[in-house]
Amino acid sequence: MVRSLEWDDSSCTLQLLDQRLLPAQVEMVTCENYTKVSTAIQNMTVRGAPVIGAAAAFGMALAACQSAQTTTEGLRADLKKAADVLIASRPTAVNLAWAVQRMLKKASVPASTADDLTQLMIAEAKLIAQEDVETNRRMAEFGAALIEDGDTIIHHCNTGSLATVDWGTALGAIRMAHEQGKKIHVLVDETRPRLQGARLTAWELDQYQIPYHIITDNMSGHFLRSGMVKKVFYGADRVAANGDVCNKIGTYMLSLAAKTNGVPVYAVFPTTTVDLNLKSGDLIPIEERDQEEVLGIEVNGQRVTPQGAKAFNPAFDVTPNDLITALVTENGVIYPPFDINLPRAVEDF
Ligand code: MRU
Repeated sequence: MVRSLEWDDSSCTLQLLDQRLLPAQVEMVTCENYTKVSTAIQNMTVRGAPVIGAAAAFGMALAACQSAQTTTEGLRADLKKAADVLIASRPTAVNLAWAVQRMLKKASVPASTADDLTQLMIAEAKLIAQEDVETNRRMAEFGAALIEDGDTIIHHCNTGSLATVDWGTALGAIRMAHEQGKKIHVLVDETRPRLQGARLTAWELDQYQIPYHIITDNMSGHFLRSGMVKKVFYGADRVAANGDVCNKIGTYMLSLAAKTNGVPVYAVFPTTTVDLNLKSGDLIPIEERDQEEVLGIEVNGQRVTPQGAKAFNPAFDVTPNDLITALVTENGVIYPPFDINLPRAVEDF
């Protein structure tokens, strides 16, 4: 499987798999500077909380490679400018700011020359990417242990290797359970309006040979009520200190329907997605995207919405912690009370 991103040492460039074109075309986009990385994050060439963090880290490495500054102080000033641009690319997934802040911290260590500092930046971005893969593998082991042979699982958005550097979060757990020999069937929420489920998760499941059916988002209540679905798995873009989970729009409605029908809900995410500065999910900034993403849908080659129609397009919603059965991180499975157990699981490691 092609990786969501690759760093090329020889040309000092970042290759991004263009997720807007999948599954029809598998094409890489070359980023030779940080502004191109920022644009790719904004227009969702690259998307998914962990991988936009890694992409932004490489954006910082590119800023160092491209800088004309010859002193370490001058280079640090350029890196600060790049950091501001990269962090502003998308507001909700906290992994983005986390990765850029970590790069800035690395930039502050003593270095003799601007070249040395640039090498430190490249090495740190590579480390962030490598750690993401290792973290995902650990999460997948914990998540897979919650999945039983014969389970039908509803999955929302795309949380697989495309949304991370490799392997994935919620979909990583499902993949791990499949590789352990468990028979699993996935109901793939198509995930309007960008269709990350129908386009990306289905594409990944095909490659892992995991059986699935795509459902429209408004079908999940029906299948949850029918008794067919044993678990709900999704990822997260930002998790508040009390365990409120902000994830792709539609996650809240899915969780409500699951709770009403007694179906367990698991959110799987790395600890880099946790924002302990925010007491509750109400404080998480929700990205509002272009209304054209909602209005521009075509059926039989015709736009379905009346000319001049207006739409709301929040890209994420918040699921209150009482709708969630457990949180799965690389440090283990966390059960309520989340306001006590989540900070502990993040800080004690
Ligand atoms: O708008 P997107 O596609 O970047 O949103 C992605 C999600 O909401 C995922 O569920 C989330 O990032 C977790 S994936 C590891």
